[in-house]
Amino acid sequence: MADKLDTVWQLEPHTKAKHDILRRYLHGWFPVLSRYNGRIIFLDGFAGPGVYKEGEPGSPKVALEALLQHRYDLAKNNCEFLLVFNEQDPDRYAVLNDVIEELKQGEWPPHVKVSKLNENFQDLAEDIVEYLDEQRANLAPTLAFLDPFGYQDTPIEKIKRLLSFNKCELLIYFDYNSANRFGTAGNVDEHFEALFGTDEFKDAPPAGDPERGKFFVDLYERQLKAVCEFDYVQRFQMINRDGRTPYYLFYCTRSLKGVEIMKDAMWSVAPDGGYRFSDRLAGQDVLFQDQADTQPLRKALLAEFSGKTVSIAELERFVLVNTPYKKTHLKQKTLAPMSVILAT
Ligand SMILES: C[S@@+](CC[C@H](N)C(=O)[O-])C[C@H]1O[C@@H](n2cnc3c(N)ncnc32)[C@H](O)[C@@H]1O
Repeated sequence: MADKLDTVWQLEPHTKAKHDILRRYLHGWFPVLSRYNGRIIFLDGFAGPGVYKEGEPGSPKVALEALLQHRYDLAKNNCEFLLVFNEQDPDRYAVLNDVIEELKQGEWPPHVKVSKLNENFQDLAEDIVEYLDEQRANLAPTLAFLDPFGYQDTPIEKIKRLLSFNKCELLIYFDYNSANRFGTAGNVDEHFEALFGTDEFKDAPPAGDPERGKFFVDLYERQLKAVCEFDYVQRFQMINRDGRTPYYLFYCTRSLKGVEIMKDAMWSVAPDGGYRFSDRLAGQDVLFQDQADTQPLRKALLAEFSGKTVSIAELERFVLVNTPYKKTHLKQKTLAPMSVILAT
């Protein structure tokens, strides 16, 4: 989708928050996946120029630095890390190329491979799927980061075909603002049908209805599960300076470990557990330690498991899948105080 931005543009605080989530997630994902696989892929389908106006890193640099500066010696895992950066716009691609080449100056670890592409994402996805079909092969475990402008470039069927292999995951931008504005306008239905993989978006409550936005977000989550067969989906809301929500970030996986790592990443950016970031808070002194109130978790655990014998593993699964809490909230912050109460 064409945009009006310069080749390189200003970094917004919510974009930095998105990068913080990506960085934290990759930090956990790289060592876990590389331990059991010969090759893993980070596919940045809408990579941008790799840098922002004041020199801040774009997603390609965030990903590469998360790998190259990792505190563990990931070379030990005998895994090849392939990072694919794709950007369609020729001028942005040229800047991206320079950014990556500059990073590659000096010593380069042989287990890290980089591929830079200047393609339309949909064509690229089609080529990958055709190649895999021909070879009767699965895509190596991949995290696809799909961060377009707008809603026209990420048809859900393409994502389904590309990421159908069990160990593939998705971090994707959902254009909440456009869905709200144009979702029931009737003149761009084919794009929304492709985005959602259904025409149910036409049933959204009318503009002005407080449930309208939630309807679109819930529908997208349902479709990511139903069409792409992701077992777990986490969402994160981005709010701009006007208090409006331009987009949500959706994380999709079939792995509980992935959910655990992503929840840690999202809580680190939103320590109140709200799964949202507001540009209005950017630059203000906010508490960065975990501010979780675990009372609701305690109540949920009692409601679900009261009178039953359950393993810690079952409780952890419940926390990860059925509550907004992190796994690390369970033992010390919730079970330990509960056992004191039970014992007295
Ligand atoms: C939101 S920006 C990406 C920002 C980048 N991921 C980051 O976090 O630093 C979206 C980028 O996608 C590019 N783009 C737009 N349509 C595309 C398409 N169909 N295929 C690939 N890239 C596209 C745009 O030129 C733009 O640079």
